[in-house]
Formats: sequence, C-alpha cells, structure tokens
Amino acid sequence: MTRPRVLLTLPLPDPAAELIGKVGELRVLGRHPEPAELATELADDVVVFCPQLRDRVTDEVLRHASQRLLGICNYAAGYDNIDVPAATRRGLWVTNTPDVVTQPTAELTITLMLTLARRVVEGDAELRAGRYTGWRPDYLLGMGVAGKRLGIVGLGRIGLEVARMAVALGMTVCHARTDGRPASATPDWVRPVDLAELLATSDVVSLHAPLTEATRHLIGEPELVAMKPRALLVNTSRGPLVDEAALAAALARGDIGGAALDVYEHEPAVHPGLVGLPNTVLAPHIGTATVEARSAMARACAANVVALLSGEVPPTPVNRPEQKGMT
Ligand code: GLV
Repeated sequence: MTRPRVLLTLPLPDPAAELIGKVGELRVLGRHPEPAELATELADDVVVFCPQLRDRVTDEVLRHASQRLLGICNYAAGYDNIDVPAATRRGLWVTNTPDVVTQPTAELTITLMLTLARRVVEGDAELRAGRYTGWRPDYLLGMGVAGKRLGIVGLGRIGLEVARMAVALGMTVCHARTDGRPASATPDWVRPVDLAELLATSDVVSLHAPLTEATRHLIGEPELVAMKPRALLVNTSRGPLVDEAALAAALARGDIGGAALDVYEHEPAVHPGLVGLPNTVLAPHIGTATVEARSAMARACAANVVALLSGEVPPTPVNRPEQKGMT
C-alpha cells in the first residue's frame, strides 16, 4: 500500500524526516516554489503539507490541492503565511510550533535590546575599522537598562518570557494589547496600560504581537513620534507591524534613540534608510535560530503530521475545521 504523501519545501532539521518517514512518504522540493508550482505539487496526492514562513499558502493555491489533503503543518509559530480561514473553509487543519520558540525568541529580543542600548555593533565596527584608540571616559556611551521601563506590545508567551528576563535585568515592565480589548489577567509585576501610555512612557518598546490586518503598521509615524525621544524600538515579531519607511525617517530625524530589528516589512529586503544608520541593529530573522530550537520545532511539526496521518487531533492546531480525517 502506498503511504500518504507529505510535502516539504526546504528540508527540516532532524528528527523530522525520521519521524514523518515512519508514517508517510516524504517529498522534499529543496526550494520555495512559486505559487503555480506549489499548486501543482499539492494537487499530486499530497495528504499533509509542511510549509515554512516563506511559503505563501493562499486560497488560490489551496483551490488546487488534492482532495486527500488533510492539513498544513507550518514549521513556525507564526502562521501569517497561511490563509487560515480559507483552509478552515476547505476542512483543512492548520498547525504551528508554539512553545518551543518562546525561549530562543525571548533570548534574541534581550540580546538585541542590550546590543543596541550598549552600542555593541557600533563599537565592533569602530574597532574593525582601526578607529579604536583606547579607553576614554566619554567613548561610546550607551543606555543602561536597569531601572528603565520596558513596554511590551502583545503579552503572549514570548512577550511574557521577555518580561521575566527584563525584570531580572532590573527593568520595570508594562504591556498593551493590540486588539483594543481590556487587559487580561497578567502577573501583577506587568502593568497593563493602553498603547498610547506605553509609547509615551517606555524607554524600550518591544513588539510581540502576531501579524494580522489589525497589527499591520501598528507602529507608524504617529506612534514613533509619540515615543520618548531616546527610546529604543525592538521587533522580533513580524516586520509589517512596523512601517519601515516611517521608522527610517524617524531614526534619521532623531525622533527616537534607535531600533533593533530581526524582521522586516519586505523580507529579505531591508529599507535602505535603515542600513546606513549607526543607531540600528539589524539581524537576519534569527529569532529561533538555535540548534536546540530548530530541532524542537522539527519534532513539534512532525508530531502534528503524525497525528493527522493517524486520524488524531494534532497537538498544536490553530484552527478547528470540520473533523476532516478524524476517525
Ligand atoms: C519564526 O519567525 C516563527 O514564527 O516561528
């Protein structure tokens, strides 16, 4: 009997192939296909598809999918690359890899904040260019974070972990929701505020909300102008939360102190205005890029695939379609 086909674009780290290979036949494209090629591939008897965040799974692509397709198991926590309502309408499960991304993404957020606050990248460039002439009392003075306020926009799992780490660094923490709803129950050491108060009072603003139509350009010119003049912006969530052109202009004008980014509005392109500025730290979307995290994500993704192929509810679904494929 032929085993159900599982389609991957780029190969996943171990142990994904081993775990999926026990229950399905793996087909690995080795590239991110254009929409037309993806549609053709999905039509070819694919039962589970494992996209990555560069693979756009649109309604149009899904329209061509094989009748046997049960679900889409994203190799990422964020799933803005997938049209989830379209998948749900078609009775398809969508799953992600939450939890295992929390610690590495929080670690990178703190790394970016401290790197920017303490001007490490600027110093590194000075030194490599031979411009470091020795210790001076006034050389490369940055901002200490102890005693400063961190404003977290979107207090989900990653935001909360960042909050914990920031408190350990001596910071106070406030948070704002992005959906306009009143603050939910949060630890008493995280002060719930609205976005306007967060922007006006935080020394560092860190974004941890998912990308939705409501959060696209959440931080644009008015929000940047509303921030404290020396405040720092950190974004390890999704690039389009920030209007990148507005950010480049605000930084060039000196409206805020600096920005540390891991994600970009039009990845892999970066607004040219950001690249030339000394008060930016620009990482290439490495929030979960640790050996441990990528392997844990592979395991989590495979667990969803195996459950679907076994007729079980997957461990980390993001939707609840009509129980397609469930026995
Ligand atoms: C990475 O950006 C993820 O969403 O897991």
